[in-house]
Order: sequence, then structure tokens, then C-alpha cells
Amino acid sequence: MSDAEIRIERLTGALGAEVQGIDLSRSLSNAQVDAIHRAFLDNQVIFFRDQSITPEDHLRFARLFGELDIHPFAAGLDDHPEIMPVVKEAEDHVSINFGGTWHSDVSFYEKPALGSVLYAIEVPDAGGDTMFANMYLAYEALSDGLKDTLDGLQAVHSASRSFGLNSRATRRSKEGGDVSMTVNPSEEAENEVVHPVIRTHPETGRKLLFVNYNFTQRFVGWTAEESAPLLKFLWDHAARPEFTCRFRWRKGSVAFWDNRCTQHLALNDYHGSRREMHRVTICGDKPV
Ligand code: SIN
Repeated sequence: MSDAEIRIERLTGALGAEVQGIDLSRSLSNAQVDAIHRAFLDNQVIFFRDQSITPEDHLRFARLFGELDIHPFAAGLDDHPEIMPVVKEAEDHVSINFGGTWHSDVSFYEKPALGSVLYAIEVPDAGGDTMFANMYLAYEALSDGLKDTLDGLQAVHSASRSFGLNSRATRRSKEGGDVSMTVNPSEEAENEVVHPVIRTHPETGRKLLFVNYNFTQRFVGWTAEESAPLLKFLWDHAARPEFTCRFRWRKGSVAFWDNRCTQHLALNDYHGSRREMHRVTICGDKPV
């Protein structure tokens, strides 16, 4: 496939674009990789349709952008631990699905992910869309006064709410969820890291809002109670519809999101149908 055939079709005013003319089962030329990288930075999340890729193809594509992570609490495939299956079975009537609240992946790491590549293996006829939100726009829409306040703040992140011993993952397994997904709640999820509330993207140099519902616990120097109202405002603000796009999956669709400047949420509106996705997460750097 020649480089001239790559087309980028923007999906919404906020973020997201479909990249056409790329076959991810083949080795990509340097020019194709450059075009994909440019589209990724310009659109924050990019989508490829009608792909048919093996686990090796999936890993090869993700490795073009960095080293790969192995999730500490959710098991990967036996022979490819970097590929984490995200599965909800037809009989899983869980009220809390994996990834079902707004987050950026593994912000509880010292060095949160650069991005993730999610491949649709099986999807419901309708439902199971993923929503994405643009954290550059969320930052830019704040008042100058609040920007000034947040610029000086740092926030504590941990995985306790999602993967701690008393977390959503624990409640989900009590509900009989995770039939096909192995999630292991752990005390390790209580480990805390600190990140700036306003982060500068290491490649674009743009400022963005870096707090998320799943993993941000409180502001440094503030109690959890003092932090809660402002965090709630920021989480609601970050998810304003005009900052988002919603992607309708088909079998073979691939999404590649920039975890540094987006958040995402997997909708849980397809009870009685099976959904299986494979996620590979690319390691990132320390937020500044
Ligand atoms: C995730 O949060 O990584 C899962 C997203 C999805 O299943 O759509």
C-alpha cells in the first residue's frame, strides 16, 4: 500500500480521526509510521477499521511507539502477557464493567502509559462503544483564575478505588463478573504516586488537565474531603460532551489513543451480548 493512499478523516470537533489506507497486519514503511504518529498527535485518538491482525501484529504495531507494559492487576494472555483481554460475557450482568468510568490508563504509575492500542475481537450488534475526551480542551476551557490555582497543584494517584482489596474490581467479582477476565485486587493498589494537575504534553508542548475519576485521590497538601468538591468539578468538566467523541466498534476495529492527553470510558449498555477486546499498553514517561 503506498503512502499516498493514507487518508485521515476527522470524527468530531473535539478529537478522534479514522485513518484509512493502512493494513496493520503488514510491516509499515517509515513514511506510514510518521503519518500515523502525526495523526495520533493531531487527533489524540485514531481509529483503523476492518483490520485482521494476529497477536504478533498487534505487538509489532504498538512497539513502534515504545516499550510495552504488563498490567499489574489484570492478567494478559498466557502466551502474550502484554496483551490484556478486556472481556464481558453475555451472562455477565455486572453493573461495573472494566474501564467503565472515566480514566487515563495506569495514571497510578510513576510513569503512566503513553498510549494504548485496543483491538475489537467480538462486539455486540449495538452498544459497547468507547468514549474519549480531550484533556487539552478541558484545560483550555477553564477560567484563568482556576488555571492559575491548578498550575501550582499536584495530585495523588493510586489504583485503590479500581484494584484495591475493597475496590470496584472486588465488587464486580462478588456480582459474578469477570467470568472470562482475571482481575486480581491487591494491597499493592494502595501505593501512591504524585503527578502535576496540569501536565505539559512531552511531544506537543501543550498543557492539559491530568486528573481522572478512577485513579486521582486528592491534592497534595489537601485532605481527601477538601479535595473532593474540586476533583468532582474537574471530573465533570473533563467529560463535557463538547470535549468528547464516541466510537462505535465493529469486529476488526482498532483504536490507538494518546493516554497523556485523553481519558476514556467503555459503555456498559449491552447486557446479554459478548464483547471481547485486546489491549496493549505502551509505556510512557514521568508527567511534568
Ligand atoms: C479500557 O479502559 O482499557 C477498556 C476500553 C474498552 O473496553 O473500550
